[in-house]
Amino acid sequence: MIHEESIALLARRIRSASAISVLTGSGVSAASGVPTFRGEEGLWKSYSPQELATPEAFERNPKLVWEWYDWRRGLISKCRPNAAHEVLALWSRRYPKFTLITQNVDGLHERAGTENVIRFHGSIWEVFCRDRCPSSPERWLDETVPLGKIPPSCPYCGGLIRPGVVWFGEGIDSEVLRESTAALDCDVFMTVGTAAVVYPAAGLVDAAHRKGAFTAEINLEPTPASGAVDLSIQGPAEVILHSVEALL
Ligand code: OAD
Repeated sequence: MIHEESIALLARRIRSASAISVLTGSGVSAASGVPTFRGEEGLWKSYSPQELATPEAFERNPKLVWEWYDWRRGLISKCRPNAAHEVLALWSRRYPKFTLITQNVDGLHERAGTENVIRFHGSIWEVFCRDRCPSSPERWLDETVPLGKIPPSCPYCGGLIRPGVVWFGEGIDSEVLRESTAALDCDVFMTVGTAAVVYPAAGLVDAAHRKGAFTAEINLEPTPASGAVDLSIQGPAEVILHSVEALL
């Protein structure tokens, strides 16, 4: 199917849908200047997830892990939402049953004004006490850039705080899983800007398909999900979503 027909088909499906769900990945923030994880320029080309994004890495070297997160927070703080975030934010306000699930921790969907974002992998702007000390909240916002002291201490017990993100080897928050599962009951499920390799997020589109949703993928390149979705559109999310919106 040529590009224009695919975009028109997706627009028709969205127009007739009563419930729409979207799963996003780092490709959605690429045009804002936030690095993706895989691919030529991806973070995992220059950095090792085992040394920076696991609970074991944090136990071994909290300073190194926090230095990396402090660098990423600084970088993200200079980035602005792009057209992809803006179209999705518009849809979140326009369609009463619209759910956005994001694997991104950058907060750009929220900054674009998206309502009810489900943060599948947490937020880089939140922290919590590593020991979950009884006097500390479950998690709290800390947008300090750059951090004054690395690694930062818990203001409640003096121990360590850690980034409020999900690391490799960690489970997804049960409430987040519950909300994401509820979002599978939809008419259209779109996956946008994700390599579709990190589970359980990568399994959501298939699960939505099995429940009868029309499934679509928007990504720069083919992914393991491309063959299984009803419609796969290759191209930049910020351009494709804008073109779809123009037809609504
Ligand atoms: P990846 O870096 O794995 O994949 C990003 C995808 O976006 C790639 O397939 C790119 O081709 C595509 N892409 C890049 N620019 C794009 C654009 N402008 N428009 C559309 N697509 C574009 O990132 P994620 O799939 O988000 O998890 O990665 C998933 C998880 O793996 C992350 O949440 C993170 C990472 O390790 C954890 O840290 C737990």
